[in-house]
Amino acid sequence: MTIVFASHNEKKASEIRSVLPQGITLLTLADLNYHQEIPEDEPTIEGNSAFKAQWIFKEFGMPCFADDTGLEVDALDGAPGVHSARYASIQRSDEANMDKLLSELGPGMHREAQFKTVITYCYAQKQVQFTGIVRGKISEDKRGDQGFGYDPIFIADDAHLTFAQMTLEQKNNYSHRARAMKQFLSFLTDLA
Ligand code: IMP
Repeated sequence: MTIVFASHNEKKASEIRSVLPQGITLLTLADLNYHQEIPEDEPTIEGNSAFKAQWIFKEFGMPCFADDTGLEVDALDGAPGVHSARYASIQRSDEANMDKLLSELGPGMHREAQFKTVITYCYAQKQVQFTGIVRGKISEDKRGDQGFGYDPIFIADDAHLTFAQMTLEQKNNYSHRARAMKQFLSFLTDLA
């Protein structure tokens, strides 16, 4: 089967492709020559995820899914959360976002945090969501150059490397996205 991934983020697409079984073909928005930005103005991660999937489903009428992700820091009452992409500024700079987060976590503050991904799948006028969470902590500084986003400052529970110090396969062993994808793929298998 062929499914559209409603995202312009090629790094996310690579992570998703790496866990897809044979028999599922992923089309990204670039494959469909769709370069328009999808609005992400909903107040929750669940809402943004649903909006993106519905938007692209309406555009192409093909089974499609979206992923919306947030980094939720306990000591900051869950911030940056749904505002993770534009935490430091509207420009969506990963470096500025991480710098802001590191500067807000002062000495002695708890550093526990979690990544949360919500995948929404739209198909045949139906919609279903899957949530993947990984608990961990924010490192003292940026480490590693793999991955994207906040990967250089997140250390999953039971890991000693940041996500940016891991290979894609290692990150998949822990990640919020891989966990949400596992549920989604099992749903697709049951549907078949
Ligand atoms: P979105 O889901 O693309 O809207 O991402 C929200 C924010 O979280 C952006 O700043 C992303 O770079 C960041 N982000 C999303 N997924 C990950 C991840 O797997 N690791 C690190 N940062 C991520």
